[in-house]
Amino acid sequence: MAPSVQCIDCGASTPYAPAGESCPKCGSEWREVRYDYPAAFESLSASLRSRPFDLWRYRELLPVRGPSPDLTLGEGGSPLLPAVNLGLMLGVPKLFIKDERQGPTASFKDRQAAVTISALKEAGITEMVVASTGNVAISYSAYAARAGVKLWAFVTSLVPAVKMREIALYGSQVVKVTGSYDLCKKVAVEFARQRGLYIDRGARTLASIEAMKTIAFEIAEQLGRNDTRDAPRSWQAPDWYVQAISGGMGPLGVYKGFRELQEAGLIARRPSLAAVQVEGCAPMVEAWRRGLDTAEPVLSPRTHVETLATGDPGRAYTFLRALARDTGGTFESVSDEETFRAMHVLAKMEGISAEPAAAAAFAGLFKLVRLGVIKSSDLVVVNCTGHTMPAEATVLGDRWSRDIKPQSLADTPEEGLLAALTEVAPARFPRVAIIEDSADARRLVRRILQSQGDFTILEAADGRQGLELIRRELPDLIILDLMMPEVDGFAVLDALRESPETAAIPVIVTTAKELTPAEKSRLGGQIQSLLQKGDFLNDEFLEEVKALIR
Ligand SMILES: Cc1ncc(COP(=O)(O)O)c(C=O)c1O
Ligand SMILES: [Zn+2]
Repeated sequence: MAPSVQCIDCGASTPYAPAGESCPKCGSEWREVRYDYPAAFESLSASLRSRPFDLWRYRELLPVRGPSPDLTLGEGGSPLLPAVNLGLMLGVPKLFIKDERQGPTASFKDRQAAVTISALKEAGITEMVVASTGNVAISYSAYAARAGVKLWAFVTSLVPAVKMREIALYGSQVVKVTGSYDLCKKVAVEFARQRGLYIDRGARTLASIEAMKTIAFEIAEQLGRNDTRDAPRSWQAPDWYVQAISGGMGPLGVYKGFRELQEAGLIARRPSLAAVQVEGCAPMVEAWRRGLDTAEPVLSPRTHVETLATGDPGRAYTFLRALARDTGGTFESVSDEETFRAMHVLAKMEGISAEPAAAAAFAGLFKLVRLGVIKSSDLVVVNCTGHTMPAEATVLGDRWSRDIKPQSLADTPEEGLLAALTEVAPARFPRVAIIEDSADARRLVRRILQSQGDFTILEAADGRQGLELIRRELPDLIILDLMMPEVDGFAVLDALRESPETAAIPVIVTTAKELTPAEKSRLGGQIQSLLQKGDFLNDEFLEEVKALIR
C-alpha cells in the first residue's frame, strides 16, 4: 500500500508525494510519512533474511519504490564496530561505533541523498537547489550525477576547499556565499524561488527523515544479532545514541525509526538521545540548559567545525527537546579543542579517521561519561557520521565555483540579493532541446549538459512532442535522435525545414547505428553534426554544443 503523509500540526492525512511541500489543510511544513505498519512489518520479517545488508532491505518502510539499480551506490549497511580500546579507556565496555564513514561519499548523508534523490527522480525533477554545510551537498551531488539531476549547491565560504572541490568534481554548480550558513540558506531559497526550482528543505524533507530511520533499524538489527552472518534473532536498542548535530535531521530520522520499532513491539524502549554541539554554535544546548522550548539563533557561529554551524535550528530543536526529554537524554556542548583532541584519540585508539564534525560526538561522549550521565554499564552507540577525503585540485581548473559576497545586503537586502544572484547566473541560459525516445540516452545527454552548468534543457520523448516543443520554445540548439517510432528524426528535420522560424536552428543528430549511404544523403546538408551513440565523449560533445550555440 502506498504510504500516506500525516500533518504533525493538524493531523490531516494525504497521499505521499515526493515533491509535496506542505499540508493542504493548514499549510504546515512539518509532516511525517505513515505506512500500513502491520503489513509492512509482516512483509519485512518474511524477507529480511534473504536481503543484502543495505538500507533498501527496509524498503517497505521507505517512501520510494525501491533500489533503482542505476542510482544506488551501495548506501547503508555500515558496520557497527565494537570500540574495545576506547571502551576500556572510558570504563564503558559496551561501546559501539556506527561507522557511517563507510558510505559512498563517506558520510551518513549518503542515506539521505540516496532516498531523497530517488524520490525526486520518481517525481520527474531534473534540477534542484540545496544549501549545505558541505556533506549534504557532496552526497546529493554524487547521486544527482547518476540520476541526471542538475544540482545548484549553495555553501558558505567557510566550507573547506577540499569539500567544495568534491562537490564541483561531481558536476554540481557550486555557489560560494560569503557569510553564515543561515544567510547561505536564505540566498539559496531566493535563487530557487526566482527560477522556480525545487529546493531541499532539510529536516522537513519527508524522504530524508525516512532515510535516516534506517540507521536505527540497522543498529537494532546489529545489536540483536548473535552472529553477524545470521538474520536477526531479535532486535535490540542501545541505552544511548550519541550524535553530533547541526540542523538535527539525523536524530529526527533515527528516532522515527526507533519509534516505529517500538510501536511494532520489536524493541522495548528507545535509547536516550545525547545530542552534541560545538560551543561556538550551540543554540540547542543553550536552550536546553535554560529550559526553553525554542532556541535563540546564534547569529555569528565561532567554530572551526563548519559542518556543525547551523545557527538557527528552528522547530527541529523543539522536536529534539521533546525526544531528549522523553528518552531521558540530554544536549551537551564541546569546545573545538576538545573536538580535535577526540579526533586524534579516535584515530590512535580505534584506527578511525573521522572528520571534526563526527569527532565532536566522541568529545561529547567523553564528557558525558566524565559527568556520570552515561554509566559504565550502559550500552552506547556513537554515530561516526563522516570522514572527508580530499578531491584532487588540479582536475577542475580554476572556475569551479560561483561566488556571492552579499556585502550590500545589510543596506538594501532585496536589491543586494537580486544583483548578487544575477551575477551568479544569468536569467536566461542558452536553451537546448533534446528529442530522444530512450530515457537513458536523454539522461546521459542531459547530464553532460547539466554538469557544464550553463544551459536550460528542454526534453521531448518522441518526434511529435519534439516538434511541438521546438515550435513553441524556439530553442538555440536541437539534439535529435534519428531512430524514433512514428515520427522519426528524419521526419522532424523535414518538418523543421518547412518553416523559416525553425529551419535555421542548428541540429546535432544522434544515432545508435551506422547510417546507410541512403540515410546519409537523406540528411543532406541539413544537420550540423552527427554523433554516433556509444562513441562520443562528454568533452567533444560539449565543444560541439558550445560551438553551435555561439
Ligand atoms: C559529518 C556530519 N556529522 C554530523 C552532522 C550533523 O547532522 P544533523 O544535524 O543534520 O543530524 C552533519 C551534518 O551535515 C555531518 O555532515
Ligand atoms: Zn496540517
